[in-house]
Amino acid sequence: MKRVLIKDVFKSQPVGDQVKVAGWIRSVRNSKGFSFVVINDGSCQGTFQIIANEDMENYQDVTSLLVGACVEFVGEIVQSQGKGQSIEMQASSVVIHGRTDESYPLQKKATSLEFLREQAHLRPRTNLFGAVFRVRHHMAMATHQFFSDRGFYYLNSPILTAVDAEGAGEMFNVTTMDLANIPKSKEGKVDFSKDYFGKPANLCVTGQLEGECFAMGMGAVYTFGPTFRAENSNTPRHLSEFWMIEPEVAFLDLEGNAELAADYVKYLISYAFEKAPEELESLQKYHQFAAKGAKEPYENHLEVLQKVINSEFERITYTKAIEILQKSGKKFDFAPEWGVELQTEHERYLAEDYFKGPVTVTDYPRDCKAFYMKQNDDGKTVRAMDVLVPGVGEIIGGSQREEDHGRLITRMEEMNMEQAPLWWYLDLRNFGTAPHSGFGLGFERALRYVTGMKNIRDVIPFPRTPKNCDF
Ligand code: 4AD
Ligand code: MG
Repeated sequence: MKRVLIKDVFKSQPVGDQVKVAGWIRSVRNSKGFSFVVINDGSCQGTFQIIANEDMENYQDVTSLLVGACVEFVGEIVQSQGKGQSIEMQASSVVIHGRTDESYPLQKKATSLEFLREQAHLRPRTNLFGAVFRVRHHMAMATHQFFSDRGFYYLNSPILTAVDAEGAGEMFNVTTMDLANIPKSKEGKVDFSKDYFGKPANLCVTGQLEGECFAMGMGAVYTFGPTFRAENSNTPRHLSEFWMIEPEVAFLDLEGNAELAADYVKYLISYAFEKAPEELESLQKYHQFAAKGAKEPYENHLEVLQKVINSEFERITYTKAIEILQKSGKKFDFAPEWGVELQTEHERYLAEDYFKGPVTVTDYPRDCKAFYMKQNDDGKTVRAMDVLVPGVGEIIGGSQREEDHGRLITRMEEMNMEQAPLWWYLDLRNFGTAPHSGFGLGFERALRYVTGMKNIRDVIPFPRTPKNCDF
């Protein structure tokens, strides 16, 4: 007999049929003469109740089962007598794939998110993480659907690279050199000509520059891959390895770029509502429970998200944002000041308190941003845009790109950047240059926003952060 997914059993409600299901035990209760076994198989949020009677073959095996064990049951689907479920199974046979004992870490009692991070190999079996990672799956599917429907091509940009595209110097080096015996030149410098690539290489911090090459030929592309940043930030919104979606589009200006970003974020939310309503409901309940007794009143997360789908994103310039922050009267840890990058507390004030929804901030001071951004005529600002959302702050960073060869060279000189490694990038401006724009959405940041999870470590399967590369 073929195993049926629990989600399909709930969907088709095959009352009277013999069915085989399998999964991990969430709870087990033994009464006189029969047992209730509740399992989940990861296919949906719901759990499935199985009733095993003492006249069943190897009933003794069932009564000795504990939470976490992996079981397979065959039985008849019947209308449920009890509350909480419409159907259940009257079991006729069981196969026990894997038992547990009392040391199984995920017992029924509530466990903290910190504890579950230490048990990252088991947390996919919890209600909460099942919900988070099903939403993650659907938002990945939404991404491909959204861009593909709009004529974008999916581009696999390289993960190994020799350039520091963001110029922030936060890269993981990649080498095959013997670290105990590093080849050195006569001057005592590392001799990278002896290294695997014959020059320094690192893990990508972005796929944007390669994306630009393809946009300048295929029109519109998007990347969706892992990116790596060796910034020493231990915060609820930084990971050393995170996933980024980076669309890049020819003949698009900042206006169009901001529209694309807003449409994409709204699409992600509406897709999650469509494909994972039970997961979102379950997350909402979790947050409401977790917020019990909290000082601040808990907002209805789903209602707030739902409103975003049909709203316009606010749009302001960086200069205006600084004005709002300075006039707010709020005591920030870092006083907002023109010329300095916005801090998380500033971003959250703007999105949460001031606009009470997503806001796109444009035209940042050029000294805060990367070399490739298109310069405004004021000589001070660039055509940058960040999308800020309540609860998280920045989830998107992007810009119109500088398409003028001369201006790009001047900017690189001002920033003391080496031009040679980027000869191919500069070539794009020499051969058939075109106005173009793009952005990067931090997938885990977007997931934090949609799932309402407070720590970015809880929306990626196995988080990598400073001093932490377990699992
Ligand atoms: O703003 P960033 O640095 O922009 C870029 O990398 C551009 N190349 C994107 C582009 O224009 N194609 O990063 C983009 C987004 C941020 O808005 C944030 O959501 C996310 O990536 N991000 C991180 N997410 C988790 N952990 C980190 N350490 C992150 N750093 C950036
Ligand atoms: Mg940024």
